[in-house]
Amino acid sequence: MKTQYYVASTLDGFIATETDSLDWLFPLGSLEESSYQTFIADVGALAMGSSTYEWILRNADSVAAETGSPWPYTQPTWIFTSRVLPVIPGADIRFCKGNVADVFGEMRAAAKEKNIWVVGGGDLAGQFYDAGLLDELIVQVGSATLGKGKPLLPRRILSPVLSLTSVQQMGTGMVELRYEVAKERVFGSNL
Ligand SMILES: NC(=O)c1ccc[n+]([C@@H]2O[C@H](COP(=O)([O-])OP(=O)(O)OC[C@H]3O[C@@H](n4cnc5c(N)ncnc54)[C@H](OP(=O)(O)O)[C@@H]3O)[C@@H](O)[C@H]2O)c1
Repeated sequence: MKTQYYVASTLDGFIATETDSLDWLFPLGSLEESSYQTFIADVGALAMGSSTYEWILRNADSVAAETGSPWPYTQPTWIFTSRVLPVIPGADIRFCKGNVADVFGEMRAAAKEKNIWVVGGGDLAGQFYDAGLLDELIVQVGSATLGKGKPLLPRRILSPVLSLTSVQQMGTGMVELRYEVAKERVFGSNL
């Protein structure tokens, strides 16, 4: 029963271009070759920000071609947004806003014995981190750089740092790094 931020990043720490393109990612590997199938089998609920949701909306055709459905998840999903967004037919989603801790109990109950996946973006994962609700970071680091873009995790995590628990090479294009988030933190540090 963990809350996990599972994500692909460039080597220089970006998860999408500034204009929300993921075109850099697809040549680096496929879902079948990654840990995704094992990971998703243990996920009971998802959280994502509106840019991530809007990427799925914009790319419904290619998502459907790849996964068989324009909405690729069966688990209940919380979309964080302050706006009114279209609903993808058949998707088990609810819109919410504000403090992540306020909806976490609902998400935890829906996930039952399974994990919660914070899909992204980086600041939303940071909000879970800030609230002390993030347990694990699983990053597929691609052998590519963007120079600028949407950040992986725009937070200072220094005291204590994350704890590296596993390294898995996936060919020459990707490496998967797993980190545990320390539960005991020093708040108010100037580091
Ligand atoms: N490489 C990967 O594995 C991967 C994984 C996930 C996502 N992505 C991509 O990375 C990009 C992420 O975009 P992003 O950094 O902009 O992050 P995002 O979390 O997808 O979207 C950010 C927006 O979500 C809304 N939001 C976030 N927290 C909120 C809160 N607590 N309450 C209300 N609204 C909240 C805000 O917009 P509004 O209030 O205006 O709606 C905010 O500007 C997307 O292009 C996505 O497709 C890549």
